Amino acid sequence: MLPYLSGKFGNAGSRSHIWGRHAAQAVERARQQVAQLLGAGDPAREIVFTSGATESNNLAIKGLARRLGKVPGHIVTQKTEHKAVLDTCKRLENEGHRVTYLDVDGQGFVSPAAVSEAMHDDTVLVSIMLANNEVGSVQPVEEIGTLTRERGVLFHCDAVQGVGRTAFDVSVLPVDLVSVSSHKLYGPMGVGALFVRRGVGARMLAEMDGGGQERGLRSGTLNVPAIVGFGAACELLSSEADAENVRLGALRERLLGGLRESVGGLHINGTTDWSRRHPGNLNVSFDGVDGEALLVALSRSVGVSSGAACSSATMEPSYVLRAMGIDDDRAHGSVRFGIGRGNTPAEIDQAVRLVAAQVQRIRALG
Ligand SMILES: Cc1ncc(COP(=O)(O)O)c(C=O)c1O
Repeated sequence: MLPYLSGKFGNAGSRSHIWGRHAAQAVERARQQVAQLLGAGDPAREIVFTSGATESNNLAIKGLARRLGKVPGHIVTQKTEHKAVLDTCKRLENEGHRVTYLDVDGQGFVSPAAVSEAMHDDTVLVSIMLANNEVGSVQPVEEIGTLTRERGVLFHCDAVQGVGRTAFDVSVLPVDLVSVSSHKLYGPMGVGALFVRRGVGARMLAEMDGGGQERGLRSGTLNVPAIVGFGAACELLSSEADAENVRLGALRERLLGGLRESVGGLHINGTTDWSRRHPGNLNVSFDGVDGEALLVALSRSVGVSSGAACSSATMEPSYVLRAMGIDDDRAHGSVRFGIGRGNTPAEIDQAVRLVAAQVQRIRALG
């Protein structure tokens, strides 16, 4: 990234001079790296750079609904999507579109049959994520995509959490639009991409109008250094994914095993069919422990989070856990561990000791 912050500080849209052309070449290389990670065959036409997955989700969903929905249309999604999908859908509802928010089962999976039943003649889009950010459940994207194809409905997938961590290849999967985020795969923050299958872009309305960059779908000067870093991160992820996923799965097993040995009253939130879960995700609740209290106690030593969001005076339990039918007490006690590239077995053991000590302390207080 560094050369593009100094000596090669050209605007990729300024092709009339050498600095601009160098920047443009770097962007095109990054486009190929992103495309390769996703399996996209036509980088120049199919990869649109954005400011991140929030923007990618907005562009995909609003872009399609507003163009195709000259008469308001119908969208199918699920209750456990990220807010960048749910709130985008709510906005469209306010504009007259209809949205079906599908239930998930106790493990966080949506049923392809329910997706199929929810599609009507005016359905313009199905939006279902790849892996859930709180409980790691990997959705049956292939089955859902096959059903959308049969109905001639476009399919958007927020793949932020799953890409590189579970099989995902747009050259074989029936998906039309895919959102990815750089910082979720160790690239810089504030950059992402939307895969737009050939032919689909013409059916979309841009969110951002202006200089016509990114084939008119996303105007604005490109953030060249960030895009270069994003591309490099994608290449690294492609090369390490298989070995790293096995390593992450083993670390998760170590974490779970350690916690189970040192503290009782532990419940796993989400599936224990590990082949259908993000390998770095573990979400658990401890009986008699408030998740927030545990997070506060750990905040300087273990970087965990809960699904709870603080809204005014009340702590709202995670809407994802609620949608899975998990009761409020248990949802309040939930803690989400995300294991990643930098983590070692020694750190996992240390985390187990620290968490166990705090769980015992909090229980003793209660
Ligand atoms: C599933 C999912 N979708 C979308 C986003 C938003 O991505 P970004 O931060 O790049 O806007 C996130 C970020 O946490 C996410 O986990």
